[in-house]
Amino acid sequence: MEQRAVGTAPFTVSAMGLGCNNFGRMGTASQTQEGTDAVIAAALDAGVTFFDTADLYGGQWGLSETLMGHAWKGRRDEAVLATKFGFTEVATPLDQLGAKGSRAYLRAACEASLERLQTDRIDLFQQHQPDPSTPLEETLGALAELVDEGKILAYGVSQFTAEQLRSADAVVTGLGAPGVASSQDELSLVARGVETDGRLAAAEEIGAGFLPFFPLANGLFTGKFSRTEIPADSRIGRQRPHIAQNADWDAMEAYQALCEEWGVTMLEATLGWFLTRPVVSSVIAGATRPEQVTQNAASAQWRPSPEQAAQIDALFPA
Ligand SMILES: NC(=O)c1ccc[n+]([C@@H]2O[C@H](COP(=O)([O-])OP(=O)(O)OC[C@H]3O[C@@H](n4cnc5c(N)ncnc54)[C@H](OP(=O)(O)O)[C@@H]3O)[C@@H](O)[C@H]2O)c1
Repeated sequence: MEQRAVGTAPFTVSAMGLGCNNFGRMGTASQTQEGTDAVIAAALDAGVTFFDTADLYGGQWGLSETLMGHAWKGRRDEAVLATKFGFTEVATPLDQLGAKGSRAYLRAACEASLERLQTDRIDLFQQHQPDPSTPLEETLGALAELVDEGKILAYGVSQFTAEQLRSADAVVTGLGAPGVASSQDELSLVARGVETDGRLAAAEEIGAGFLPFFPLANGLFTGKFSRTEIPADSRIGRQRPHIAQNADWDAMEAYQALCEEWGVTMLEATLGWFLTRPVVSSVIAGATRPEQVTQNAASAQWRPSPEQAAQIDALFPA
């Protein structure tokens, strides 16, 4: 498995990562501890060592992290563990401590995540969303303190605009603190806004690694959907049928035909499309079953040529 840098973080990550928002998710095979254990063991066995979760994932507060904490079974040190705090759109048990980007809030969030994840360090601690009510100096200064204390190894941000990314970089430079290691935002073949509004370029400019979320468009690009078939046992089938119903099936079918011509699966072509970009640190696709994560790891080897990447871009323009 290819290893990649995450900005200036003192570790590398597997190019194929694992998004962990399925652990605890109702109706999935990874809703239970047993299901989570199976996905995490399969990931580690396949060389997928980068795990991205958040305090709010799992349907109940902290559930994804709690299930993950029990799943290590002595293998914690094989993993690079990223989590998040401070999703501003939900109420949390820590809200009485202050705004979600405040020093008091994020320090308490870090302690709670460490406990749930059953670990003595978080490798990458990310601010889930910007908090306009807290000065960036306070948030980033508090994150730098956590690095000094060894509770986290690096910090990153999520859903920051290009301007906010540049401001964050200026703040850490001013503080003499470590650089912002990562920027996480939505990017897939059907959601390319970060390429057109400068967020991806800004991440590159400040030296952060980019972590694309919803990279498979909730599973649309796994190849298991068609114009007429939506498997019932899938997130799209259960919760988001509109994603398949509203897809541009002419483009999807043309893409499938191109993949067949190149002798690769749609999953291989899609993962390869991400991994031709040096700024992408890891493709953090989710998985609900061990077979999926094994398949995703095996599919992350192929890379399109520049001509092939241009053909994909032409089908799904930014
Ligand atoms: N920072 C943020 O604000 C933010 C927001 C959203 C997500 N995220 C992160 O991004 C990660 C990835 O997003 P996501 O998991 O929601 O979406 P995704 O990666 O686009 O889609 C993953 C889904 O596709 C299906 N799938 C994956 N591999 C498959 C395979 N080989 N064969 C068949 N089906 C397969 C699985 O769902 P089914 O089996 O149910 O079909 C899986 O849950 C999250 O886990 C989270 O860590 C971050």
